[in-house]
Formats: sequence, structure tokens, C-alpha cells
Amino acid sequence: METLELLLDKSNKENSINKAAEILKNGGVVAMPTETVYGLAASAYDNDAITKIFTAKGRPQDNPLIVHVCNMQMLGEVAENIPPEAFGLAEKFWPGPLTLVLKKGPKICNNVSAGLNTVAVRMPNNDIALELINKSGLPLAAPSANLSGRPSPTKAEHVIADLNGKINAVLMSDSSAVGVESTVVSLCTNPPRLLRPGAVTKEQLEEFLPDLVVDNAVLNELKEGEKAASPGMKYKHYAPKTEVTLVEGSSQDFAKFVNSKTDCVAVCFLEDAGILTEKIVYGSTRNEATLAKNLFECLRQLDNKGYKKAYVHAPTKNGIGLAVYNRLIRAAAFKVVKL
Ligand code: TXA
Ligand code: MG
Repeated sequence: METLELLLDKSNKENSINKAAEILKNGGVVAMPTETVYGLAASAYDNDAITKIFTAKGRPQDNPLIVHVCNMQMLGEVAENIPPEAFGLAEKFWPGPLTLVLKKGPKICNNVSAGLNTVAVRMPNNDIALELINKSGLPLAAPSANLSGRPSPTKAEHVIADLNGKINAVLMSDSSAVGVESTVVSLCTNPPRLLRPGAVTKEQLEEFLPDLVVDNAVLNELKEGEKAASPGMKYKHYAPKTEVTLVEGSSQDFAKFVNSKTDCVAVCFLEDAGILTEKIVYGSTRNEATLAKNLFECLRQLDNKGYKKAYVHAPTKNGIGLAVYNRLIRAAAFKVVKL
């Protein structure tokens, strides 16, 4: 199929969003920008449309999708028995990069929830996405708009590189502001559980959910046969073709370690760059949000430049650093060197 590239400059914006909303109402799939990463959207009420998402991405059928809403009324249409904490969190963090796992409402089709009785919901902090949901009048199920196993897309060109010819349209917007996928928290478990770290941090959530626990899969590899609370965490995600190793240590030690290796590249902090030879800078430790913003673009660059091996300087496990660490440890297939 031909994939339409829908432009969003002033003169095209309204037409493009209308066109995308039409496609969605007719059971098609459209890639849309969000503040975290680009998502591949379809109606959460249309089982056949959802099947198209799984087919285009090559996504395993047992991995459920996040449903995107544009207001609190729509939240009431997709979830049931919503606990009071959900409203407190929504008030504070929505629209924004926080996904809540709640009891599934009856209209959400089975392919969205992969057979679970829960549904993951968020309100994205992106005007184009909010307008698209509003205009289509539909809650939109949307996983990241990458081929399964590839780094998530933070630019429209990443979506086209992975999905051109496989989806109906792409809304050609700017780079994603956050760069890593949303924080996922289950309010269906007691105590509540952090399933995936993101830009809404564990520390911020603890103010609302003092007994929040961090799921084992956030930082550890699941053992053979162990059940994942968040099915997505069991897959080897975010993997570039380049062999990635995560390296923990000071700038000096990191540089000494990588400079002693041959045939490889360092993915480093701005603060390390001066003392390294072959390198890609992914951000600054003084502002770890920059690491999140550039992470997936850097992982894509590794493949585009054909590097065999990459050593990535590990961020902290605090704040948004935990989200970056969580993605990297998967890109590295859990290979970590501690200097
Ligand atoms: O920022 C984001 O969340 C992006 C943008 C597009 O909104 N979306 C995204 O979707 O990252 P995806 O499909 O790549 O990741 C969804 C994650 C998976 O790890 C999945 O297993 C988990 O959310 N998930 C979805 N529904 C769930 C449920 N009912 N219970 C537990 N985990 C769920
Ligand atoms: Mg994804």
C-alpha cells in the first residue's frame, strides 16, 4: 500500500489531521507524533484495525497496546472501577508521559488487551495527537511506530524507515520531546507496581503511591518461564544490530576502557567526549533528559554507520536516568561491565 506523508505546516495542518481522522474511522492505521515517541494508531474499538497494527510491526500477539484518550470522559469509556489514585495521578501528570493500567471496559477489543482483563491508558501531551483523538472521536490504541525489536521512533523519518508501505499514513511532525516511552504503572495490583520507567519518575510517583514497588523486570532479565507483569518487558527490545555493552564507571575509567578496544565506538556523555576517539555523544549528565531525548536516534545511528560493537556509558538509575538505563540494558541484552 502507499503510505501517505501528511504534512503539518500551517497551510496543511487541518487537512492532514482531518484526513488522518477519516482513515482511523474507516479502520486504517496512522502513525502519529506524541511527546514520548511516535505511535502507530488505530481505533481501540475495532479488532480488525488493531490486527493491522500487529501485522505492520511484526509484533507478538500477546503484547497488549496502550490506549490514548484526549479527555477524562473518554477515560471513563475505556476503563472501569477506576480507583481514586488514578484521578489524582491524571490530574497531576496528564496530559503527559504516564500510562495507567486499569480494569478494562467492555468496549475495548480483545486484541488491544491481548486477552488480559486490564487496559493501559494515557493522555499524550502533544497537540496533534490530542486533536487527532478528538476529531476521530475514538480512543486510539498505539504502540510505538517501529518494527518490533527496532529502537522506538523519535522522528517521522524513523517511522518511514521502518513502516513505509505497511501503514496508511504518517503525520510528519517534529522530533519527540521526551524521547523514551511513557512510564507504565499498574493500579490493578496491590501494592501498585512500576512496570516500565519513563519521564514521570519513580520519585514523583511515590508522592502519590507511597507503597509503589518496582517490577523485577525493570532492571533484571526474566528467568526462563518467569511470567512478565508487563508482557512487553519479556522481549529483547530496542535492539540495534550493533553489539551493545553497557559500561558503568567514571569518565576517566570509561575512556580508558573504550580507548583500549579496537573496532568499536563509544556512546558517551558530553562530559566524556574530549578524551575519546571514536564516539557518538548522546547527551549530558548535567541534564539526563537530554540522554533520553537522543537515545533511540543514537541506537539507530549505530546500525546506519555499521558499527560492529558499541560501549555505552551508563546513566544513573535515578529520575529519568532509570528509564534510559532500562532501555539500554535491553539494547545490551543485559551485558553490563562495572569498572
Ligand atoms: O510512550 C508510549 O507509551 C508510547 C507512545 C506511542 O504512547 N507507546 C508505547 O507502546 O510505548 P508500546 O506498545 O511500545 O509499549 C506498551 C507497553 C508494553 O510494555 C506492554 O506490555 C505494556 O505497555 N502494556 C500494555 N497494556 C498492558 C496491560 N494491560 N498490562 C500490563 N502492561 C501493559
Ligand atoms: Mg514499543
